[in-house]
Amino acid sequence: MERIRLDFTHVIGDSENGKFLSMEEIGQLGDTICSAHEELKKERLKKDELSFLSLPIAYNKKYGNTIFGDTLWNTKTVIDQKAEQIKSRFSDYVQIAIGGSALGATALVNALGEPQRKIRIHTPDNVDPEWIGEILDTIQTEKTFFNIISKSGGTVETLSNFFVFYDELRKKIPAEQLKDHFTIMTNPEKGPLAELCREEGFTLIPIPNSVHGRFSVLSPGGLLTAAVSGIDIDELLDGARVMDEFTEESEFWKNPMLLYAAFHYIANTRKDIDTLILLPYSQKLRTIADWYSQLVAESLGKDGKGITPVKALGATDQHSQLQLYNEGPMNKFVTFFSVEKYRRRIEIPNAFPSRKDYQYLWGNSLNNLLGSEQRATAISLYNHGVPNCTLRMPEITPFYMGQLFMLLEKVIPILGKLYNVNAFDQPGVEESKEYARAMLGKEGKVYEEKRKEMEFYSKPANCKVV
Ligand code: PA5
Repeated sequence: MERIRLDFTHVIGDSENGKFLSMEEIGQLGDTICSAHEELKKERLKKDELSFLSLPIAYNKKYGNTIFGDTLWNTKTVIDQKAEQIKSRFSDYVQIAIGGSALGATALVNALGEPQRKIRIHTPDNVDPEWIGEILDTIQTEKTFFNIISKSGGTVETLSNFFVFYDELRKKIPAEQLKDHFTIMTNPEKGPLAELCREEGFTLIPIPNSVHGRFSVLSPGGLLTAAVSGIDIDELLDGARVMDEFTEESEFWKNPMLLYAAFHYIANTRKDIDTLILLPYSQKLRTIADWYSQLVAESLGKDGKGITPVKALGATDQHSQLQLYNEGPMNKFVTFFSVEKYRRRIEIPNAFPSRKDYQYLWGNSLNNLLGSEQRATAISLYNHGVPNCTLRMPEITPFYMGQLFMLLEKVIPILGKLYNVNAFDQPGVEESKEYARAMLGKEGKVYEEKRKEMEFYSKPANCKVV
């Protein structure tokens, strides 16, 4: 069976000529990484935060996994039915979410959503009034379905967008029909959205409490949007299951997940590399870089540790960023995402036969142009001393997307152990949320204190503005 491969030819080299890693130093970390891997294998059915590993099999009774009880066995049927209903009845589908609850589904729709589908998909993950206004102008709310995803049920951006769309719809249709336009995906056990569902009768689709946002692409949160976009979610889950099984391999040099974790860790902690460039050579995979960037940043950027992920796109950014990558500060590790077989083939035609200087292009295709540019960039980076590896995807299909998500998700708990940080929390994002709530007038002692603190910065004498 084909799978995603890790090409690390351009990671290995002489450290005098660049920031390369040697086979010896990678091998030396092997035992530590393998011990972390073995620990995770033992923990995976015991620790809540690792339950995302069980998502690919949790919807199928045949695998007999009971980590989520029977909740998800039932949920898969609900998702399939809901997706069919939505596709047959509505012209637009709006997924309202942010952060980890949004990025996986958005990456899926961009990579695989059927362009010829009748239903239009919108995935607003910001509260920019111009963007939300544009979506409101584009859709007919009475022909639109809204899927609200917030595990906590308390995320201000998601709630605000929900209320805006709900209010628009309320003006157009009778009150008793409103709930037919919504599903709410949230933690069923607690949180304000679960309460709202009980009070107002919205359909609640559970997101298991143990699955954290940035590991939730294979939870119902990612799956409904994918299914409505025409993506085969069984294939997606199957790909993830296959990669999960494959990366249980204990032998370090045979396991791409362990090797990729080793490159990341050695580059960051021993080579003064502080920047991880994520560089898909595929327009369709551009938001995979957004998704993985969040996973790396929010999971590992703690206690003064971590690497800064930077999202780029090939070939476009060859004409924007590559100069810096090759000749700027030597602080980067590059991960390419390449595609072996694009789903379409477009030849470069002999449009101007009299122009001999263009001749080398004729008979080529956009396919081998993009593929050649990726390989050329990998070599050029190597020649400039920049270590880089390539995740080679046979084709962009649900099966391989499932593999990709699982491979990269599984790297994170390994790295969490190596860095000795909790990969599953995000204490550093809480404070700004508290300030924002205070500014918006939320009641409570803690918010009053924050408001007083902020008054300091509202006085011109305390600010430097030109
Ligand atoms: O990855 C995470 O845990 C976060 O990015 C959350 O997904 C994000 O903050 C949204 O949270 P919620 O689903 O509770 O609205």
